Amino acid sequence: MTPAVLFVCLGNICRSPMAEGAFRAEMARRGLALRVDSAGTGGWHSGDAPDPRAVAEAARHGVDISGLRARQVAPADFDRFTHIVAMDAANLATLRRMQPPGSRAELSLMRDHAGATGQPVADPYYGGPEGFAQVWTQVQSGAGGLLDHIEAR
Ligand code: 4NP
Repeated sequence: MTPAVLFVCLGNICRSPMAEGAFRAEMARRGLALRVDSAGTGGWHSGDAPDPRAVAEAARHGVDISGLRARQVAPADFDRFTHIVAMDAANLATLRRMQPPGSRAELSLMRDHAGATGQPVADPYYGGPEGFAQVWTQVQSGAGGLLDHIEAR
């Protein structure tokens, strides 16, 4: 199956849309075109655009994520995506509980792909803009490592 990547956080308005944007930008740099999406384990923000602070931080790096819309993770995602990448341990635990028997999707933590095994991309929602800057650094480095892993398959 062609690699396909889903990034997952809690609300799908901060971390995972930033991860999707960073990954798409890195993919474009490498001349790759894979299926990519993001989703939240929670559904409270379904249909919403990313948080304006996330949009602003991505824009600072030349990446436009303003057109993304939040959605909740669905059982079908476990068959449509080969790689499902959680931002923190709580997201990963939810995904492991949801994964249907027979799904071969590879679940991982974002920062595992950047040499920070087990470390979270911390939720920036209740903090200041520096939290969003830190998220960008972490998801960009995770995106690069994940693409190295996928390209090496
Ligand atoms: P995210 O951040 O999981 O990175 O999108 C959050 C956004 C909203 C909420 C929690 C986290 N919330 O509780 O509404």
